[in-house]
Amino acid sequence: MSKWKKWREAIGLAALDYPVPTHANSFWCSLGGVTLFCFSVTIVTGIILTQFYNPAPQIAHASVRYISAATGLKFVRSLHHWSANLGFMLLIAHMLRVMFSGAFRPPRVITYLAGLALLFVVFQTFFTGTVLKWDQEGYEAMEHFVAVNKLLGPLGAVFQEDFTLSTSMLARMYGLHVGGLPLLLFLLIVVHLFYVKHFGIAPKPFQSQADYQSSLSQGATFSRHSIGLLKYGSVLLIILLGLAFFFQPGLLDAPKPGIEVTKPPWLFWIFYPIESAMGISGILVGSAVLCAGFLLIPVLGMTIKDEKKFFRVVKVLVVIGLIVWIALMAKTYFSPVMQHI
Ligand code: HEM
Ligand code: HEM
Repeated sequence: MSKWKKWREAIGLAALDYPVPTHANSFWCSLGGVTLFCFSVTIVTGIILTQFYNPAPQIAHASVRYISAATGLKFVRSLHHWSANLGFMLLIAHMLRVMFSGAFRPPRVITYLAGLALLFVVFQTFFTGTVLKWDQEGYEAMEHFVAVNKLLGPLGAVFQEDFTLSTSMLARMYGLHVGGLPLLLFLLIVVHLFYVKHFGIAPKPFQSQADYQSSLSQGATFSRHSIGLLKYGSVLLIILLGLAFFFQPGLLDAPKPGIEVTKPPWLFWIFYPIESAMGISGILVGSAVLCAGFLLIPVLGMTIKDEKKFFRVVKVLVVIGLIVWIALMAKTYFSPVMQHI
């Protein structure tokens, strides 16, 4: 046995040599891992930023100005910004792969539901991060959050300014962004990956059980999958470093209460036209429709048994979903800023 093999066994790396189906090592089936890699960069840079950010409302904006003026810190902030944005794009790509391959079907329903919960938590983490900048955009984002929670009555009482007099909304958002939400993210990722490992990567569309079983004995292993992930991760890191270096995120002026002159970050654009049409309750209605749509997806997998019909229905629904998404994004891009509160 070579020295390297002995070392691999001694430190336990050989335990990762378990077989995986051949297609598990493709780029598409690595997107979840690449998303995880990208958000790890967000978390590491976030921890560095906490050493310089001050969540007191009177100083918060100035502390981000300070971060944006110091060369090294400016770069860390830019990396945090780009890894959060790119991570979300990768997350959408991962979801599309899961949808088109029908990987949400039984027995992977909990894997899918844990994924949905992850999507929700990432949304919230992105949102609270935007508030932390405490510029006009961040302030308006928080005003919307408070207004939406007001509509929820007692359920939203905890997210009202007057819930406590002992601290500010901004400090509470900070607590969520750097504590509560990352903890939830971590716990959900553990559940998500536990089930991914337990059931293995789903078969390809129309792949028979016999083909799937035989693809498990064709030499593909999780160790190879991990090496592939490191390669994709390195390319991603280069892209992130380039974006962070050449395109630094801006910072608007300190907030002026009572005006609405910004649009939300791109993730939230799908809600903007609905909000413009229905007022602030449009955000609630849009979120409810989105949740219901995503929750109905696994029901398809449980009810349609015919493989051909299943993939036809999935294709049609996902394409309709994508068209609606693009239309709402385009509408927001081309529409002027509107006063909603
Ligand atoms: C997936 C996880 C995370 C996401 C999606 C995320 C997202 C964001 C976003 C979008 C911003 C505004 C950045 C800008 O454009 O300037 C931000 C700011 C910030 N984040 Fe995060 N974040 C995450 C995790 C963390 C963690 C784990 C920490 C710390 C432990 C952290 C600390 C901060 C701090 C201190 C700021 C304010 C400084 C600034 O705006 O430059 N973040 N975050
Ligand atoms: C932070 C967010 C997420 C992370 C880090 C993540 C990570 C992963 C990883 C590493 C895998 C293994 C396969 C791969 O690398 O593609 C996976 C599989 C899976 N993910 Fe996610 N995921 C996330 C969000 C989601 C969301 C939003 C959904 C769906 C709504 C989802 C549904 C699934 C399903 C069903 C599988 C099993 C796929 C199969 O067996 O082929 N995930 N995820």
